[in-house]
Order: sequence, then C-alpha cells, then structure tokens
Amino acid sequence: MKHSWWKESVVYQIYPRSFMDSNGDGIGDIQGIILKLDYLKELGIDTIWLSPVYESPNDDNGYDISNYHKIMDEFGTMEDWEELLHQVHMRDMKLIMDLVVNHTSDEHEWFVQAKSSKDNPYRDYYIWRDPKEDGSEPNNWASNFGGSAWEYNEQTEDYYLHLFSKKQPDLNWENEKLRDEIFSMMKWWLDKGIDGFRMDVINFISKGEGLPNGEIQPGRPYASGSRHYRNGPKIHHYLREMNQKVLSHYDLMTVGEMPGVTPDQAKEYTGEDRNELNMVFQFEHVGLDNGPNGKWDLKPLDLMELKQSLSRWQYALGESGWNSLYFNNHDQPRSLSRFGNDGKYRMESAKMLATLLHMMKGTPYVYQGEELGMTNVAFESIDSYKDIETLQAYTELKEQGFSEEEVMKSIHHKSRDNARTPMQWNAEEYAGFSISEPWLAVNPNYTSINAEAEMANEASIFHYYKQLIQLRRQNDLIVYGSYQLILEEEPEIFAYVRTYQGKKLLVICNFYKGEPTFKLPRDINFMTKQLLLSNYKVDEQMSISEFSMQPYEARVYLLN
Ligand code: NOJ
Repeated sequence: MKHSWWKESVVYQIYPRSFMDSNGDGIGDIQGIILKLDYLKELGIDTIWLSPVYESPNDDNGYDISNYHKIMDEFGTMEDWEELLHQVHMRDMKLIMDLVVNHTSDEHEWFVQAKSSKDNPYRDYYIWRDPKEDGSEPNNWASNFGGSAWEYNEQTEDYYLHLFSKKQPDLNWENEKLRDEIFSMMKWWLDKGIDGFRMDVINFISKGEGLPNGEIQPGRPYASGSRHYRNGPKIHHYLREMNQKVLSHYDLMTVGEMPGVTPDQAKEYTGEDRNELNMVFQFEHVGLDNGPNGKWDLKPLDLMELKQSLSRWQYALGESGWNSLYFNNHDQPRSLSRFGNDGKYRMESAKMLATLLHMMKGTPYVYQGEELGMTNVAFESIDSYKDIETLQAYTELKEQGFSEEEVMKSIHHKSRDNARTPMQWNAEEYAGFSISEPWLAVNPNYTSINAEAEMANEASIFHYYKQLIQLRRQNDLIVYGSYQLILEEEPEIFAYVRTYQGKKLLVICNFYKGEPTFKLPRDINFMTKQLLLSNYKVDEQMSISEFSMQPYEARVYLLN
C-alpha cells in the first residue's frame, strides 16, 4: 500500500460559526480561528477542515453558498482568510476547504439568472421540470430536510429540484459548462495554496435518468428518492473528469461525503488505481441507532452491529482504498452522549470511544470540542434551536401527532445543534467563545467542561487525545497495519488486532459500564508486551491472558 501524507494525518474539523468569536458579535469568525491555531498545534493536529466560510444567506449555515469566491461578511474578509492559510502553513499544518457543489444558494447569481426566464443562459445550470397535469410536483421525492424536493417558480411556471432546503437548488451536472465553471472555481482555490477538499454530498450529483418516483411509505406524503440520486449513473464519470482536470494536478487530500454508500461502492470511489477520491465519509455506523422511521425514531445502539459495521469497512478497504474514521461532525449529535456515558463515566467513556476509533486503519477526524468531552445539550424549548433540519422535523413530527415531549426527546438525542453549541474555551461568561450572547446558546455545562480546565489536568480527555495522536505519529503500524476483529461474539467488549511488519497492536475496549472478563484468544502469540495507552491505571506486569475490565476501560498494547 502506498504511503501518503493524508493517510498519516489527523484532521480537525472547525465549524467556524461556533469556534471562536474575535469581534464580539456572537458569531465565530476567521480571526477567531487564527487565535486558536496554537491550541490545535498543541493538540497535535496536522490538518484542518474548515466547514464553509463562503458568502451565504445562511439558510443552512453556509452550506447554501451565494458566491464561491467571497468570504461571508460575518466571518471576515478574503484578507483574513489569506492570513489564516498563511498562519496554518507557518505551523506546518494543512487546510482543507469544504466544497459544496451539489447545490448553491437560491441567491447565487446563477440561480437568480436561471429562474428569471426559460431562455436565460444559466437556465440549464439547475434542474427544472414542468408540473404534472394537475399542477403538482414533477415527482414524489422528499427533500432531506422534509417536505417536497420541488419548489414552484412563478416566473417560469415550473419546478426546480432541491434535495435540501428550497433555498438550496440542485445544480445540473449534466451541463458541461457548469462542470467547467466548478472545476475552474476549484482551481482558483487550489492556486491560493489550499491542501484539499471535503466534498459535500458528492455522491448526489448524478441524478437517475428520468427522475423516477420513489416508493412511498404508508401515511407519508413524499417518498425518499435517494435510490435515484445517490451514486447515480454518471457519478464516476464526473469524479474522474474532476480528478483529471483538477485534482491530479495538485498534492491533495480529498474526502467525499457520501450518505448511503456501501463498502463496495467506497472501494470504487477510493481505490488507488481509480483516480477519483482519497476517501469517503460513510454513514452506516451513524445510522445504527435509527429506528425504522429514520433518524428521529430513537433506537439504542447494539454493540454487535457496531462491531460488524466498522469491521466490514475495515476489511473492505483494507488493501485498496482508504477509510475515514469519525464519530462526530457538525451533523451528528455528540458521540459521548450518544454512544458513551456523559454522566459519571464521561471521562472514561470519551477516552474509550476515542481509542476505539483512533487505533483503526484510516484517517481520523476530530470534531471541535470532541477533544474536551463536550456533550449533547437539552434546550427546553424549540425556540432555542436554530438548525433548519431540526426546526422542520419539529413541525412535521408534531403534524404527525407526536407529543411535545416525544418530539423534544428525539431532538435532544439527535439534533444537529448538539454539535453546534459554541466551543467551550473557559468558565467565563459565554464559555470564552464570545463577549456577547452567542448566535446559539452555550451548553450550560461549560463551567466544568472547557478547554482551560482540560488543558490544566494531565489526566483529561484533551491530554488523552494528544497521546492518541502522538502514538499514530510514532507508529506506522497504527496507520498501515492490517485489521482483525477478535472476540466477535463478546457482547460488551470491542477488541481488535492490527498487524504490521511482525508487530501487533492489541486494542481492547469495554463499551459499557459493566465489568466483563477479557480473555485473550489463544492464537495471539507474543514474546513481549508493552502498554502504550490506557484510560485507567494498569499494572504493566499483569498478565493479559484473562482479566476483569473496569467500566468503559480501554487499553492499547504493543505485542512483539
Ligand atoms: C451535508 C452537510 O454536512 C450538512 O450540514 C448540510 O446540511 C447538507 N450536506 C446540505 O449541504
């Protein structure tokens, strides 16, 4: 397997709106990020992924871009951004930008033109269809944020497609001119010196021939059309063209966000000889706690399913292709509250989850605040929530007859705002994020959970992440070693072995608060063992052939 810098990286995701506010308007900004670069360096991060900072009316917090070549006023200016890039590079770190090209904002000049008349030159940059005979939408697809995926345009008396909000019209990748505009925009950013792209829902850009109806679930007005727009017929053609015209001319990291992608498909997107992308964000493991009715339908995570799922990905991309490793991002609730224990065992379970993920094969992603053990929030009233998906779900679930209590329970568990509350820097008012009231309220637990406290405590989650990152840096085994799940049937322990050049890494994680017994499989032989990391004090001389585990205990051994 070829060695590459992006395989050896640990990426830190910044959600700029909630990271650090330097000018006191309650909204995070680019100068704020610059103030915290030394913090990231201290953590050991080498690559930063910046969620969108482009001009946007913020219907979906920047994932609705109105100008790809401008910086959002609230975040600063292009000069600020240039300074950020410079400061990142000065610290020997890299900067990855978010590329949102499945859709634009409806306020983008292309769309303003396109909707004005049927013969406008930009018309074909978007996806238009005539109404059905009764005037209704061209097909039955639901938007990913709820409601129909089609919006009527008075001026031209037809509908445009929007897989997300109606302020995010989908681009028509069939149009070659549009593709070339996007490619030249990408070059424009790359020529400024950035180090790669995270590509928003990039497996949605090729829509199925004829846009056929999806299958309607009983009692629902719209169907998921995802079968017809995920991994569509021309997706590989578009990505290869992008690779050939743009990506291959630079030394980059690329990661494609791909809801619904299977391991076999991921292999096609990331295989070394495929000339498409470096890696994808898959969604299988973050869907395991969805009930039959989707994300808001709560279901406890089954560890057996998590083991099977993550292992399936480890095996599938073991030889060819590459995995991304993540539990958190700006769309997911905080993994500590979701899969761990954010009460009594907050510290232990945060470290356990981090160990489980970071010792796997792939490129790990840390989402802001994860390294501090930040948790979900439970705002009492829906009025405190800002996320468009959450607000739409609230209305729809209420319409479907769920009680206020049931709906708020789902929101507390799953809302994207769980991840978006401001970064908790210290115990001062507004958590040191801003000097004035933030755009989204701070999680009230900031007085005890914050960066200052974490950094001052040698035994903290922050210091543990630092160790995990350093270990990866020092051991090629952690980057390139092969993966093998062990103790498959063990219901409480997630354990695996990594192997590389005669050495083995043994990773043992107790996923729950019980105290199960770990029994080393007989076929794992070694002469010497060295404890590399653990979240409890461990007697290093102690035999590991059989021992009782503490709640949420995690250990990493090097076996020779
Ligand atoms: C995925 C992004 O991560 C999410 O935040 C956004 O709402 C959708 N794509 C639409 O751009």
